This record gives sequence, C-alpha cells and structure tokens, in this order.
Amino acid sequence: MLEIAENGCTWVLSGPNSSYALHLTSDDELLHLHWGPRIALADAEALAVRPLPDYWPFESPLDGREEYPVEGGPRFVRPALSVRGEERRGTEWVFEAYSAEDDELRLRFRDGGLAITLHYRVRSGTDVVERWVTLHNEGPALELLRADSAVWTLPDREGWRLSQLHGRWAAESRLARSPLAYGEKVIGSRRGHTGHQHLPWVALDTDATEERGEVYGCALGWSGSWRIAVAQLPDARVQITGGAGHDDSGLLRLAAGESFASPVFAGLWSEGGFGGASRAWHAYQRAYVIPDADRDRPVLFNSWEATEFDISEEQQGVLARRAAAIGVELFVVDDGWFGARTSDRAGLGDWTPNPDRFPGGLKPLGDYVHALGMQFGIWVEPEMVNPDSELYREHPDWVQYQPGRKRTELRNQLVLNLAREDVQEYLWEQLHGLLSSAPIDYVKWDFNRCFTDAGWPGEPYPQRLWVDHVHALYRLLDRLRAAHPGVAFESCSGGGGRIDLGVMSRTDQVWTSDNTDPLDRLAIQHGFSQIHPARAMAAWVTDSPNTQLNGRISSLRFRFVSAMAGVLGVGGDLAEWTEEELEEARGWVELYKEIRPLVQRGDLYRLRAPEGGLSAVQYVLGDETVVLAWLQAQHFGEPVPALRLRGLDPTASYECRETGEVHRGVVLLHHGLRTGLRGDLDAAVLRLRRI
Ligand code: DGJ
Repeated sequence: MLEIAENGCTWVLSGPNSSYALHLTSDDELLHLHWGPRIALADAEALAVRPLPDYWPFESPLDGREEYPVEGGPRFVRPALSVRGEERRGTEWVFEAYSAEDDELRLRFRDGGLAITLHYRVRSGTDVVERWVTLHNEGPALELLRADSAVWTLPDREGWRLSQLHGRWAAESRLARSPLAYGEKVIGSRRGHTGHQHLPWVALDTDATEERGEVYGCALGWSGSWRIAVAQLPDARVQITGGAGHDDSGLLRLAAGESFASPVFAGLWSEGGFGGASRAWHAYQRAYVIPDADRDRPVLFNSWEATEFDISEEQQGVLARRAAAIGVELFVVDDGWFGARTSDRAGLGDWTPNPDRFPGGLKPLGDYVHALGMQFGIWVEPEMVNPDSELYREHPDWVQYQPGRKRTELRNQLVLNLAREDVQEYLWEQLHGLLSSAPIDYVKWDFNRCFTDAGWPGEPYPQRLWVDHVHALYRLLDRLRAAHPGVAFESCSGGGGRIDLGVMSRTDQVWTSDNTDPLDRLAIQHGFSQIHPARAMAAWVTDSPNTQLNGRISSLRFRFVSAMAGVLGVGGDLAEWTEEELEEARGWVELYKEIRPLVQRGDLYRLRAPEGGLSAVQYVLGDETVVLAWLQAQHFGEPVPALRLRGLDPTASYECRETGEVHRGVVLLHHGLRTGLRGDLDAAVLRLRRI
C-alpha cells in the first residue's frame, strides 16, 4: 500500500506489518523518515516537520538522513551515486516528479542531461521493500563510477549488532554476529561472481533473539561483483549502502540516450526475531523471486561424487537403474559428458557429447532415464573455456584478457567474455541446440573460477565487462527458459559461489556447497536459512567415509536427515551401496516425499542452532508439522534436552506419527518434544499432525 501526502512531498509505503516513509524538502533533499512498525500518513507528516540537527560546520545534518546521498555538496558519507563527465563532478539534482503505479513509487530527479529515478516497491502481502535506481542520460557522455541500488537508514538505537553470512569454498554461508563499531564494515566480491566469501545479505539488530525482537535485513539481487557497506556514523546513526561493483572505479559509460538499471536491493523489517525475519524473507522469495515455487522440486541423483570425470553411457545407465529403484525422480549427469572433457584440463566450451562416451549423443541415455520414470538433467559451465578446446583454438580472443599480459588459468580454464555479442550468440546456439537435441529436463549451470584478467582489447571502455557479463548471463538464462519452459535450472558455482536474489529469480534451485559432509552441512544450512528458503537449497546424501573433504563416517540416517532439510538429492556411488543400504535409502526417499510439501513450502522454525550438540529445525504447513533433529555427540550420559516446538496451536492436540503419542500443543510449546536421540551423530524425523 502506498499513501501520499496532499502536498505530494511525503510518501508512506506499507506492508501488512511495517511501513517505510520518506520526505522531500523544499530544497529537493530526499530525507528518510521511518522504517519499522506500521504508521499512518499523519505520523509520517509529523516526523517530516521535525527539524534536522544543527551540526555545522564539521558535520552535515544531511548525513545519515538522506535516502540516496549523491556525491558533492554538504555530505561526508559514502556517496551512492558518483558520476564523471567531461566538465562535470558530482551531482546536484532537482526534483522533477513522482509517479505511483500499483505498489511502486518512482521519484524522478534531474541533473542536466542525467535523469535519476529512485524506485520503491512493497510486494503485496509482504513487508519487503524493493529498491533500485535507474539512470538515463540525454546529455554528453558520462562515466558512472558508482550507482548503488539503495541506502537504508536505521532508527537511532544503541548497541547495533551486525549479522553476516561469510565463508569460502566448501564452507559457505556461515552465520557470524558481532557488535557494530564506528566507521564502516564492507563486505562484497571483487571476483566477478557473487562469491563464496559472503552472501549479499546483512541483518542489524540490537537485542533480537531467534523468536523476538526487531531485525532489519537487506539483500542484494546481483550475481557479479558487489559491495554492501554498513556505516556507523559519528552521531551513531547507521546506514547500509549496497549495489553492483566492488570499487568506485567505474561501472559503465553512458552515452547520450543510454540507461542503466541497478539491481534490486531489498530490505525487510521484522519484529519476530531472526526466525520471523527469515520466514518473511522465505515467503517473499517463494511468492516473488523463485520461479514456480509452488511446484515442489524433485529428488535428484547427481553423478559427480560417484564418478567424477570417468563416465560412460553404460555406467550412467547402471547408476540410473539404482537411482530409480530408490525413488529418485531426476537423474543428473554431471561434468565429463562433452567434448574432450576427460579431466578438468580440456573440453570446456565444446558443448557436444563426447563420441567415445556417448556415441549416440545424450538422447539414448535421456530416453533410458525417462523410461525408468525419471527426469533427465545435465551439467554445463557455459561461461568458461579450457585453452585445450576447439572453441579456444578457433577464438582465442573470446576470453577476458589484458593485452600483453599472462592469461591466468584457474582450474585450467579461462573466462569467456560474455559482454561480447558473438560470444552470447555462440552460447545461445550451443545451449539451445543442446536442449533441443535430447530430452533434457534440468540444467546444472556451474561457474568454477573468478575473474582475474578482466580485459577486453579493442573495447573503448573495457570496464563495462563486469556489469555486462552479468546482464548477458541473465539474458541467456531468460532466453533459454522462454524457449524451453519445461527445463529447470540450478545455479552452481563450485558449490555456493553464486547464490543471490538475482540468479535465484532465474533458476529453480541452487547448489548450496561442495561440502556434502552431513555435519558441516548443518552449519552451512543454518546460515543459508537466515535468508533463503529450503525450497531452493539443494542437499545431497553422499558416501561414508566422506570422500570429498574429511573422511567422516556417518550413518545413512544422519546423512539423509541432514539433506532432507532442503531439496533432497543423492550423490553417493550407488553402484557401491549394498542391497541393505539401497533398501534403507528407498525408505528415506519415500519419507522425504511425504514431508516434502512441509519442507519446501512450510514455515521454517530453527529450534536449536548447530553450535551446540543438539540442533533441530521444524517446518509447519497447515495441520502438519515435522521436526528434523540432529545430535552431534552425547556427553556423560546426559539426557538430550526436549525440543520446544513453535508455530503450533496451544489449544490443539498433535499426534506423533513416529511414536503414536498424542501431545497437547501447549505442552509441546512450553515443555517440548523428546526426540529419543542418543550417542554420536544421531538424527530423527518426527512428524506430528493436529487431531
Ligand atoms: C563444481 C560443482 O560444485 C560440483 O558439484 C561439480 O559439478 C564440479 N564442479 C564438476 O566440475
């Protein structure tokens, strides 16, 4: 809902529980008024007449109060907009007009030939405020050094804490929470992709718990380099600035007639604690970001950990039969099916099936997988090329490179320059051809190295490659999705290196991490769930001892219950699993299918975080609830604590399907449910139904 004051200078956007208000002064300063609980227009108008502090000359009263601080004038904060022209520095805008359409408010400013429009939208039924900026140049050419999507302003409070999701390869999205101090805290990626190091999300609170208290969250929808800066200003006010690009060294050049649209930087206020904030983010993504989120994702098998590069049609057929027998619904052939790709040294770029391994192409295997009653999927890494490939031999200039410098190979591969139209067209033809050549239902889209030599010889403004790469990727995904509406896509980047709202609006799920150790995964999943829903979080059951990372031995039960907290997959070498293991796996897959609507569409409650010995999550959908619980290690024979459930009706009774016991809602909420867990690495699934 959008309310506008009669004088056309104060605006209030509201969701079911929150409001966001801003005000334009007679000097064309756009000031932040409110972000928090719902307020009326009259409240916003009362805030608008409160005088600014009298700070001059060493501080600016505008700092920490502006919606979108530009460069220049009486401001000392980080500018969200920084523009250079032949004779021009900074920005001095005049307000032109506002417009309101559906739930979107647009405020248009002008500085000479440059039109700057700030966009605000609250998606119906949510408290998420989407903000972005569009720029249109009608004057002489300009360089955009920086054009952030939004600046978020927090209310005056003491003792802000910052939550972030940090990591590295095989250790992504781990939650860290620390007090905010004066100055700036900057997170981001200067790697060309979202990166394993930080998810583009922050949350700020002062005293929230999992279930109570105010939490402010911001998430950026951009899959290239990015930056979020959280600043605590000299008067303790806090602002969060975010957008595309890591540095201020140049985003784009805008010639006359050209435009730039920033990615969306979404913000959410919640007073339901970290859990309430997560549930609100999840609901928003299921409703407005993830395509077809009301359609549950199938249980998949992926061949990577089982066979790595050593694959053949016959061997994949054996795995497919076993996968079908345990109830898998989607069989995915990972790396190694194309070109000369028998190791990571060759073949990337040549997207035709390897004739020795798949003499009849992929169709016979696809048909076979379909005949077994499963969907068929493949792995691709379209943005890359191995120097040892037909593509590179033909087009050595199609990669990112700096003239006269070494071409840095990482995992023996180079990055294609997707900003080039000929590269875009080549990839479209290859991938469209591939998807038309075989019955393919699913594409795992990987990205296994960062940008290092982001040059583009011959291009007058090579810097644009960073932004154009992401736009080209988005266009390619959009075009493929439109041409092949039945095909689902997974975003992968050596695990969780490309997880953000931008790519998630074009893919059906994401590969969370290459770390498939079921214990480590609990921490990774705990972090992931702070912002993204289980519906998008792919998780595989792999072999024990763990082959990829640590050799940890764990039961099938523990591995399955860990992976069942997201979109279940199986990634172990089924050819080596015993009949008993396959039979047990069949039971787990069947159980997962039963609880899948709750996991993928229900409300998530994190009952206990993984740092302690016992951790658990609970999903609630209608009258059903399911608890997944994990015990790392029991010590001194101590009884394992009961789990206090959430989201239930205290006056109702619930029957536990596992034990047949009937529990009163109020007892489950206040005294908890006993899990029966004991020993080391134990796990349980407990289903309850309201009776
Ligand atoms: C990295 C991915 O994260 C893995 O799952 C696998 O697909 C390999 N790439 C294949 O090269």
